[in-house]
Amino acid sequence: MIVSPSILSADWTHLEDAVRVAEAGADWLHCDVMDGHFVPNLTFGPPMVAALHRMTRLPLDVHLMIDQPLAFVPAFVEAGAAILTVHVEAPGVAGPGWPAPVRSHGEGGAASDVSPAPHVPAAHAPAVHTIDLALLRRTLAAIRARGVRAGLALRPDTAYEEIEPVLGELDLLLVMTVYPGFSGQSFLEGPLATMARAAEYKRSHGASFTIEVDGGIRAADTGPRAAEAGAEALVAGHGIYRQPDPKAAIRALKALGARAGAA
Ligand code: DX5
Ligand code: ZN
Repeated sequence: MIVSPSILSADWTHLEDAVRVAEAGADWLHCDVMDGHFVPNLTFGPPMVAALHRMTRLPLDVHLMIDQPLAFVPAFVEAGAAILTVHVEAPGVAGPGWPAPVRSHGEGGAASDVSPAPHVPAAHAPAVHTIDLALLRRTLAAIRARGVRAGLALRPDTAYEEIEPVLGELDLLLVMTVYPGFSGQSFLEGPLATMARAAEYKRSHGASFTIEVDGGIRAADTGPRAAEAGAEALVAGHGIYRQPDPKAAIRALKALGARAGAA
């Protein structure tokens, strides 16, 4: 099992300690980039990724929760990203962008009493989304052309069928089990079916992309369920950095293993 601790949940006053914890047993380091538009929260950009790259040789697993991510691909490649994952629902990835989800919740985000989705301009919220597969293919190819691995992320409300046509062009499929925007949210079960279908696709087509799960993953309960469904890489924020023994949490997640035949 690949384990990717999410640095967003670490204590940033001791960032280097958090990196050393990851190095003590994890495989990648997950970097959550948020822009306050695609999601109702702000985190960090290329300078933070560059700082992490100077601190560690762990591959940086960069999760872009931003509008128009292609505009920032060169900056994140320059910063040292190994994997760049974009959201299929974000404006500029596969069309004009999809409607905002109901909400994600957490500390430090946009004020919740402004409107149901204050971060999404009306022009970015069509009543019915459309997916432009040709544009999506160009987006993925543009990331790969920069020499990094291309990932595609799905919100919990995005159907597997939407992205199946491009699975053969991915290095990584990131299935979200919370609505993007905050760490520390509760795991949602619906996307387990997406992982299972992606794993079945891998088996039947001999595809090589990695199935990664992100949101509410803990070694005690949700991690095993995701592994059973076919997840091969586990992102964990609170499930590692907010545990009494983060290194033990990494070891426990590593030990889960991918489901036989899913890898
Ligand atoms: C949520 C982020 C996640 C988050 C994970 O938008 O993409 O990577 O930091 O944190 P936990 O594991 O606490 O849900
Ligand atoms: Zn993430």
